[in-house]
Amino acid sequence: MCGIIGYTGSVFAASKVVLDGLERLEYRGYDSAGLATIKGSGLLVNRGSGKLRLIRSVLEKGMGSESVAIGHTRWATHGKPTEENAHPHVDNARRIVVVHNGIIENYLDLKGELSAKGHRFDSQTDTEIIAHLLADMENPDFLVSFRQAVLRLEGAYALAVLHVNYPDRIFFARKNCPLIVGHSENEGMFLGSDPAAMLSYTRTVTYLNDLEYGYIDPTSVHLFSLNSGEPLPIQKEVLDWNPVAAEKGGYRHFMLKEIHEQPDVVRNTLGGRLDEARGKVLLPDFQISPEQFSKIDRIVITACGTAYYSGLVGKYVLERLCRIPVDAELASEFRYRDPVINEKTLVIAVSQSGETADTLAAIELARARGATTMAIVNVKGSSLTRRVDGTLYIHAGPEIGVASTKAYLAMVVGFELFALYLSEIRNTLSSDSRREFIHELKLIPGKIEEQLKHKEDVLQVAQKYQNYRNFLYLGRDYNYPTALEGALKLKELSYIHAEGYASGEMKHGPIALLDRDCPVVAILSESSVYEKVLSNIQEARARDCLVIGVLTEGSTHSASVVDDSLITQRTIEVLSPLLNVIPLQLFAYFVSDLKGLDVDQPRNLAKSVTVE
Ligand code: F6R
Repeated sequence: MCGIIGYTGSVFAASKVVLDGLERLEYRGYDSAGLATIKGSGLLVNRGSGKLRLIRSVLEKGMGSESVAIGHTRWATHGKPTEENAHPHVDNARRIVVVHNGIIENYLDLKGELSAKGHRFDSQTDTEIIAHLLADMENPDFLVSFRQAVLRLEGAYALAVLHVNYPDRIFFARKNCPLIVGHSENEGMFLGSDPAAMLSYTRTVTYLNDLEYGYIDPTSVHLFSLNSGEPLPIQKEVLDWNPVAAEKGGYRHFMLKEIHEQPDVVRNTLGGRLDEARGKVLLPDFQISPEQFSKIDRIVITACGTAYYSGLVGKYVLERLCRIPVDAELASEFRYRDPVINEKTLVIAVSQSGETADTLAAIELARARGATTMAIVNVKGSSLTRRVDGTLYIHAGPEIGVASTKAYLAMVVGFELFALYLSEIRNTLSSDSRREFIHELKLIPGKIEEQLKHKEDVLQVAQKYQNYRNFLYLGRDYNYPTALEGALKLKELSYIHAEGYASGEMKHGPIALLDRDCPVVAILSESSVYEKVLSNIQEARARDCLVIGVLTEGSTHSASVVDDSLITQRTIEVLSPLLNVIPLQLFAYFVSDLKGLDVDQPRNLAKSVTVE
């Protein structure tokens, strides 16, 4: 949600580094964008409203080989996505320029105070007050003023700031929004919301913590505590992400590329963690001990959006395999509803970014109540991983498409792995069953590859159905969450109304929606509930609905009861969500593309929702 990038150094033209970085960060927000540099003794600030590819020439105007720049891509919170609300924002004297991710909650109070002192404001944003507040500070050492001003801000912020008197520095501060420093040996220093912005220059990063501030210059980072003002040690990490992973690699869209990466993503998530001969899952670096897990009597999974749906699959899998009560809760509800949790509860937060505001708040609450906390996360070193007792990384690589695909799949694999691991601790599954499970799990990447070979079949179904305005997705048991995820993918990518429902619930209301204008997408793969879902489909057909069935290859009986089929490979039931979701991702992708919509950046959305 909003992307920040900054560069200081004399090796590259700073505006180019920042513009390229903005392109990589655009998935975080794409309402408007802007760029600022120090040119001579003044500021040059260019801003525009709309997607980067349409305003790139506006942002480049007058930019040359300057050696410092900051940029921002916006997802609007305060104020419409107009040019005047786009970041960067300057003070009246045009000496200070600010980009910001987050929300300043006390901005109206500060604005009133600064207006009374004569400051004039040009935008409706909360961010603009920061530039004015900084200008209002009187200490001649800007770093001191910077700290004093930042301490007055309430809310969430990742800030990057230039001051004309310090032409090679970028000042920064962070609270509840991600911010990363990138180090390169001889090529300058970087600042960004996300490693993707700087991957083509460096993989050595420092993740900033909350309530830290400081500045980068061309050779180093200077880091301090906001509370005490004392210097802090710099901790560097080297990321294992490959810069090529953040490119489209010949695919028309990141989403299509990420769908095709899924076989390798599953291999990476499983990598080195399975011992089939002994029927064991190996998690050697896991920070929570088996003894701690054996004291747990209940699990709560918490997350948002697609990550939540992966958590719902996790609930079904963990309860079945580990015989332990599991709830899955939306983080935005959990954090405010005073939930009953205690030291015997394990709270698992699931997140691609590890930066989702509600998920972070949910885990804080769980910690405060003494629960053991764990994260299933993609982004290494993200905020979530630093707030939990243990992290299971899913190793999906950078996910750029705003609609999550490969991270969803890897999260589900993460739950399958964890369930197997816990089943051994709890002694709820025989080693033979675990061996069989592991054997089947290892076959999943090859099966996804096989399914992807038939994507043209999914395209044909998408061509037939692209103009319908309503869809009902039905699934049951392990694949009820798959139905929810399939419906979410269709609605977010193609703006078509799609409901996901547990198929057994259809009679209790949604059946009233059904007619020939509302196709049903039913997950009808082989399973213990196959006959039940089949009856639900017959009820839909009796109301003239067209039915698209997600069917197991070779199941001729199912093919005869649906109008169109999306074929998946055969696997054991507990793993079926991993295969069934693939054609639903492709269906949503194709419908969106056929409609000429922006697949990678659907309207109103942003990846990594760092505000409430
Ligand atoms: C939908 C989607 C979102 C995210 C949600 C949580 O395709 O991507 O629903 O799943 O915003 O994000 P993370 O996983 O980063 O916490």
